[in-house]
Amino acid sequence: KRIAVVMGGFSSEFGISLKSGEVVYRTLDRERYEPYRIQIRKDGWFLLTDSKEEIPVNRDNFSVVLQGETLQFDCVFNAIHGTPGEDGLLQAYLELIGIPQTACSSYPAALTFNKRDLLSVVKSYGVPTARSYRLNKGQQVKPKEIFEQVGLPCFVKANRAGSSFGISMVKEEDALEAALEVAFAEDDQVLIEAALVGREVSVGVIRYEGKTRVLPITEIISENEFFDYQAKYEGKSQEITPADLDGETEGKIRELAARIYDLLELDGYSRSEFILVDGTPHLLEVNTTPGLTEASILPQQAAAEGIGLAELFSSAIEDALG
Ligand code: DAL
Ligand code: MG
Repeated sequence: KRIAVVMGGFSSEFGISLKSGEVVYRTLDRERYEPYRIQIRKDGWFLLTDSKEEIPVNRDNFSVVLQGETLQFDCVFNAIHGTPGEDGLLQAYLELIGIPQTACSSYPAALTFNKRDLLSVVKSYGVPTARSYRLNKGQQVKPKEIFEQVGLPCFVKANRAGSSFGISMVKEEDALEAALEVAFAEDDQVLIEAALVGREVSVGVIRYEGKTRVLPITEIISENEFFDYQAKYEGKSQEITPADLDGETEGKIRELAARIYDLLELDGYSRSEFILVDGTPHLLEVNTTPGLTEASILPQQAAAEGIGLAELFSSAIEDALG
């Protein structure tokens, strides 16, 4: 089977996606699959050959002409974080032209990538979340109304972004303006959330060998004030898998993560983040194209269950191929 490992994208997470994509490309089981690297970038879509030649992708049918031969792909391994691989755009395009891909389908991808809409939907199903406030670029900023709604400290977040790009913690009212500038640099929509106080946990739910499988929980202990870019990628955090939790709390988190996966019909990888407030998990967000390097959280969780990277990736492809 020919697999297009698609990486890059248009967001600040471009470089992180290249890392995930390279790991997938290198690790895929060569006895079963014939992998190709494809980068989707602001300046075009290209297949990268081993000699680093860049061959344009035909967007009508996602094919490439390589040494005079037209290559079609059986499956896309979606390793793009952020737009257009995590927000449903790439998914919708591939659904239209009939190529299976490994991440969840277009609608749940679009919903989950929109943090504030995700939170509204899960809230209607009784999932606990933080108090929040929405703001769009160009709208009047009403600090009094914002702080009455969310209090201090709070988080100002770009609504559709990842890897903590566009997120600031605001501890005093005067810091709001600068935080909004950081967030609006990433997205025209902003989410302002009350800062929840409690332990932070992350849990992967995947499709594995035809079944939904909840992976072991990871506790995140950040050296910084929150799990920001530096804490995520520059070692300023501890990630403990499996997290040291009592049986009841562990059960609650696993049950909630699985329920969210089912409710939203997330048919690919997912990694949900929660804060435990007095033992009750509150949902922060769901990532549907989580980081996939050896050091990333979801692969660590799979490893703790004895699932290696190659198996994790093969399973996603086989599930996509159905
Ligand atoms: N957005 C990053 C890649 C993650 O969720 O792992
Ligand atoms: Mg995220």
